[in-house]
Amino acid sequence: MFHEQIANCCRELKLGSEIALLSQNTEAETHQEYLYKILNEEIKRRAAARKTRYLNNAGFYIIKTFKNYVFDEVKLPKLLSPDSLKECSFLENKENLILYGNVGTGKTHLATAIGVEACRKGKEVKFFRTAALVNLLVEHKANGELTKFLKKINKADLLILDEWGYIPLDRDGAQLLFQVVSECYERRSLIITTNLEFSKWTTIFYDEQMTSAIIDRIIHHGHLLLFDGTSKRLQFSSMKTN
Ligand SMILES: Nc1ncnc2c1ncn2[C@@H]1O[C@H](COP(=O)(O)OP(=O)(O)OP(=O)(O)O)[C@@H](O)[C@H]1O
Ligand SMILES: [Mg+2]
Repeated sequence: MFHEQIANCCRELKLGSEIALLSQNTEAETHQEYLYKILNEEIKRRAAARKTRYLNNAGFYIIKTFKNYVFDEVKLPKLLSPDSLKECSFLENKENLILYGNVGTGKTHLATAIGVEACRKGKEVKFFRTAALVNLLVEHKANGELTKFLKKINKADLLILDEWGYIPLDRDGAQLLFQVVSECYERRSLIITTNLEFSKWTTIFYDEQMTSAIIDRIIHHGHLLLFDGTSKRLQFSSMKTN
């Protein structure tokens, strides 16, 4: 009874179709308890849907998690532990992580695993290879849609820029990247993976002043994670002869 009327009301109020179903299957001792149970279920359902949406829209190249991740060769700063990274506590204070080190040492894997955990905690994450992001910025600028695109990025709680400094940028691209990073300052967390030491960041941004400004902002509330082991790709390579 009333199923259809409830469904219509929900549609009109933009409450989704689940509530009509819930109204049939929920039992309670009082009217208040009944209403509370339905509303609470809808809140839980929306939170779960949001997490799945964030995970699907984050732009991860491949899903990697903390499961099977070995921390042996990662040098974490004193304030961070594998557990605190998994908890994503750095997000609360809009802190940044710089994952710096040799090729194949697990920077992208860890950045992705942290991003996946953040999505599971209901945080919005955007993952980009830095060069791909710069291409998108240049394209959107050319189409007069830069503001709209920046708005989308700036909605995220965490921006992950993978392979920072791997591919040279032109000056326009570098300036757009500067804009994105400086927008993040004290507003949202940033994870950067790179094999370029700070002193070489001028090769990305050309301009010394712009480079100092970027480094200053990133490290003000930042943690440096060092990856100085050898490539896991070589270690696990199927081409190895011994
Ligand atoms: N500590 C680790 N525990 C488990 N697997 C790892 C670890 N480090 C790396 N791997 C695996 O080794 C491969 C290379 O790691 P990844 O791509 O994260 O390296 P990277 O540091 O990002 O390298 P690059 O600088 O070339 O981008 C991946 O398949 C990853 O899952
Ligand atoms: Mg990588």
